[in-house]
Amino acid sequence: MSATPPPSVLFVCLGNICRSPLAEAALRHAAQAAGLELTVDSAGTGSWHIGKGPDPRSCDEASRHGIDIAHYRARQVTARDFDRFDRIVALDASNLANLERIAPASPHARLSLLLDHVPGMEGQDVDDPYFGGPEGFVTTWEQVSEAARNLVAEFLDERAGRGH
Ligand code: 4NP
Repeated sequence: MSATPPPSVLFVCLGNICRSPLAEAALRHAAQAAGLELTVDSAGTGSWHIGKGPDPRSCDEASRHGIDIAHYRARQVTARDFDRFDRIVALDASNLANLERIAPASPHARLSLLLDHVPGMEGQDVDDPYFGGPEGFVTTWEQVSEAARNLVAEFLDERAGRGH
């Protein structure tokens, strides 16, 4: 075991009930598959769903991949999160802008957009599937799981001293 704590990642969307819980689940899963120890959490910039479980469609999509997220509970991101996490990953540009607005002056966390971790999709949003049908959650899973695998590769590179 290393003496330093594992790297930590916080995913942030609007409600913390659709997209960021799936991103959290995907990164936990990808890290475990790679034997990488990571601390992973998710939060929302909005406050409407604090304390609620994930949207049932997110639970169903995670279940299709063998992952149970029904026990996750929504919370709102805070300025303290910028000191508690190494990385904060926004699911879309509007949440990234809101995070930049609440960030402390010299944040510890490095902020990024989730699809900046998927080559060819840089700068794009993970679209909010909340008001659509279940197919939107399939797309969300595809995008967050690809980003999660690439984040794991980034962390493994950093651990090997090849970080940028
Ligand atoms: P999320 O989706 O940001 O992916 O969790 C949403 C969930 C709820 C709402 C908006 C987006 N809402 O307006 O209540």
